[in-house]
Amino acid sequence: MTQELSTTAPEHLPRQRGDWWRDAVIYQVYVRSFADSDGDGIGDLRGIRERLPHLAGLGVDAVWITPFYASPQADGGYDVADYRAVDPLFGKLSDADDLVREAHRLGLRVIVDIVPNHTSDQHPWFLAALAGGPERAYYHFRPGKGANGELPPNDWESVFGGPAWTRAAVPDGDGGTSQPEAGGEWYLHLFAPEQPDLNWEHPAVSEEFASVLRFWLDLGVDGFRIDVAHGMVKADGMPDIGLREQAKMIGAQVLPFFDQDGVHEIHRSWRRLLDGYEGERIGVAEAWAPTAERLALYVRPDEMHQAFNFQFLRCPWDPDRMREVIDASLAATASVGAPTTWVLSNHDVVRHPTRYGDGPAGLRRARAAALLMLALPGSAYIYQGEELGLPEVTDLPDEVRQDPSFFRAEGQDGFRDGCRVPIPWTRSGSSHGFGSAGSWLPQPDSWGELSVEAQTGVPGSTLELYRAALAVRREHPGLGAGDAVTWLDAPEGVLALARDGFLCTTNTTGTEVELPVPGTVLLSSGAPGFGDGTVRLPADSSTWWAI
Ligand code: BGC
Repeated sequence: MTQELSTTAPEHLPRQRGDWWRDAVIYQVYVRSFADSDGDGIGDLRGIRERLPHLAGLGVDAVWITPFYASPQADGGYDVADYRAVDPLFGKLSDADDLVREAHRLGLRVIVDIVPNHTSDQHPWFLAALAGGPERAYYHFRPGKGANGELPPNDWESVFGGPAWTRAAVPDGDGGTSQPEAGGEWYLHLFAPEQPDLNWEHPAVSEEFASVLRFWLDLGVDGFRIDVAHGMVKADGMPDIGLREQAKMIGAQVLPFFDQDGVHEIHRSWRRLLDGYEGERIGVAEAWAPTAERLALYVRPDEMHQAFNFQFLRCPWDPDRMREVIDASLAATASVGAPTTWVLSNHDVVRHPTRYGDGPAGLRRARAAALLMLALPGSAYIYQGEELGLPEVTDLPDEVRQDPSFFRAEGQDGFRDGCRVPIPWTRSGSSHGFGSAGSWLPQPDSWGELSVEAQTGVPGSTLELYRAALAVRREHPGLGAGDAVTWLDAPEGVLALARDGFLCTTNTTGTEVELPVPGTVLLSSGAPGFGDGTVRLPADSSTWWAI
């Protein structure tokens, strides 16, 4: 049975300002896994530069590049030993410079990742801290509990599993140390032990980061993705939580180590710094907050420009939940005058075709979700390989895994190597065109058929769907603009959201749904069938209409 779509006129949604980031589509490059130019099996900056035409052709506005700084790579580069140097694995500083220039030449902006919550344990500050220097105050060192200080100072757990504290050796006064067992203090690391948390109460820390931001802004970057932007400030007295499995509470409740009100002062100071530069340089907070309202605090007018909307990423393929999350996200960011961001996948989560149900249904839903996301007001993030419809790799052998959480967690799922497998560029050849000498994580053989080469020019391929969607979005700037959508009445399981002169219908059900034809098809993730004045929306598909 068909129900009629309501004919309520969609609200006019004026574009608020000319700010590029409000509706930008930003492509995430996970540097190790994008393109390897020097044949060491690991992606690098030159590889990215050589593949920039793919991104320009795809039609994105900007590229966000994950950390490429000098690092022992204990956590894929999120353990930085020198914030102003490029790790030799990824190239040289001149490669970063060339990359930024070439991106700008192609009309792409560049956002780099900054990791302020923690350094590497090989950062000169931490080495000096272990040796008893004044840099100890830049980190969180505390005496342990128990008769001999043999117990961690509190019950906080690392996001990667296990205690968030490691006992350090006692400095011997000569710049050396004794053994850790010999009664040393403990240091805090909310992630791996190789990632000691910085003490943001110390002015030297904020001064250093302001200088690091300036370094990259002077080089020409257009902004920063701020890693763990909710983590830099810890609750006074570092109180116990009293509960286990704290990683599962992240993003669901405020914990004494995350989303503390004090972090906002840091973001305000960074906004002032960014605003001091020409050309709308932006800050994007990777902030896990329990509600859309608390997340919106990070994007108040004097704070960051955007924050990732993980509520959308976490939402299951359920029309009511999706609508709720979309409305709540839009309302929360509108209340502070910021754009909402939309993201379906990144380097920390299971790729969304697999999350939505592996196999053909998962891919159909992922394609439909992409059109739904790109029809929403605000900015959208695309994770490399998403435009190829890549699934999670779920059968990596243990011996190739590198995610530190795999080695530390007990009984947790969600290890992150499966979404980080290097992407396929060509049908055949070494690592499907990723590089000339294999890839640091093995690609499934079947990925040749998902490669850029195999999908280019193939009508209906996921790559051509993304290209077409981004082209339509550019032709209709109203698509990303505004801060609200109008939901039209639609049959059960169908979402129908209208914008100015535009409609997106998403059939979330596993069967065809028939409707009166609402307009002219602009694009569809399925192949709608037309009858006498009616359209049959395929199962798990989205269609864009001009109305
Ligand atoms: C990054 C992760 C990283 C963690 C610690 C995150 O939010 O996205 O990949 O492991 O921060 O830096």
